[in-house]
Amino acid sequence: MRERVPLVLHVLGARPNFVKAAPVVRGLAELDVPQGIIHTGQHYDALMSDVFFADLGLPEPLANLGVGSGSHAKQTAALLTGLEEVVLEHDPGLVVVYGDVNSTLAAILVCAKLGIPTAHVEAGLRSFDRAMPEEVNRVVTDSLADLLFATSPEALSHLAREGVDPAKVHLVGNPMIDSLKAALPRLDAKAVRHRLGLPEHYAVGTLHRPANVDDADAARELVTAVAEVSRQVPVVVPLHPRGRERLAAAGLVTGERLSVIDPLGYIDFLSLVRGAALVVTDSGGVQEETTMLGVPCLTLRANTERPITITHGTNRLVTPAQLPAAAEKALADGAATPSGDLPPLWDGVSGPRIARVLAAWLRGDNLSPAAHTLSVPYQNG
Ligand code: UD1
Ligand code: UDP
Repeated sequence: MRERVPLVLHVLGARPNFVKAAPVVRGLAELDVPQGIIHTGQHYDALMSDVFFADLGLPEPLANLGVGSGSHAKQTAALLTGLEEVVLEHDPGLVVVYGDVNSTLAAILVCAKLGIPTAHVEAGLRSFDRAMPEEVNRVVTDSLADLLFATSPEALSHLAREGVDPAKVHLVGNPMIDSLKAALPRLDAKAVRHRLGLPEHYAVGTLHRPANVDDADAARELVTAVAEVSRQVPVVVPLHPRGRERLAAAGLVTGERLSVIDPLGYIDFLSLVRGAALVVTDSGGVQEETTMLGVPCLTLRANTERPITITHGTNRLVTPAQLPAAAEKALADGAATPSGDLPPLWDGVSGPRIARVLAAWLRGDNLSPAAHTLSVPYQNG
């Protein structure tokens, strides 16, 4: 009789988690590995959650914990309590967590205390800025995970420096790029642009980092800079709910050359980005997507945990004061052609690679050290 393959649980909570998980879920489904999603409910608005399940073809979660919003302590406490219960109920053989959000941190802590093995997708990214809540989440998550999937080569040295056993680490490329590549045939910039009343030449902005939107002075400086960009090119800002009021108070409101709109679903958003002359953002994932699409990206941050988007992509870090001039130059230089040297393994098959390692691990196969240093080669079939 065949032995029962243990259940894999994916813990997802926030918008970027859904995008990273979809290719892994698909990859495991192809290998017939039993799996289920636990949605923590960290993001709950339809445009921050449901639309991603629909656009990415993610299966219905087994449970939604509905933890909602709160201070870091309150949200994390609710996540810990809810996750402990649901993990005990489902008794998984492995829990997979993604990225660097509070749901990721809580899941890894709960599993570590329950003795349940874990895998972290997007391990080893570091901004070296502990003022970012995500950096704290990354460091703790990587120190506790049993399997670590790195999206970018520099992650390997970060993890080694922190004492993570290299035998646990697999460089597999970026599943967010799998989702993007899978979405390409469905992207229709013209349709979304028409719906939003935008001209052919436009820029897209996204803002949600606490350092940018939680402080009134920072928000004002930022909004002034974005307003200056809008004098060069019409700007559309699908705005994350965080800091919406503060940004509005600072003057980020719809005007003649600036449209502030609700967040967009995944396909609509990527459609808009693909057709944009310029993207201005503080998002992590958008830095990667613009690199892949060859759209110039100006990132309003002092640092990035994704430096590969600068060395191998279209990204540039700017201060608000530098933004208008940087935008002028990016618009004058025109679209960046995606170079031949995109980051290694950003090839659209990271999900299957991760799934193959997970399946091998679940079977108890001895993953040889050689397999860990670069990746388990992916072949169709
Ligand atoms: C979280 C992640 C961040 C990630 C971002 C992706 C943490 C610490 N931060 O930040 O790394 O880049 O998600 O989008 O986990 N809100 C709503 N509706 C929602 C969700 C949030 O209105 O569906 C509002 C609430 O006012 C809430 C605020 O947004 O207080 C912040 O939400 P939260 O999930 O705590 O953090 P994000 O800023 O979304
Ligand atoms: N995104 C989206 N609609 C939007 C803004 C972003 O679908 O209005 C997608 C974007 O394409 C990327 C992901 O959301 O795949 C990034 O999420 P976010 O910027 O919220 O988080 P971060 O990557 O900074 O953690």
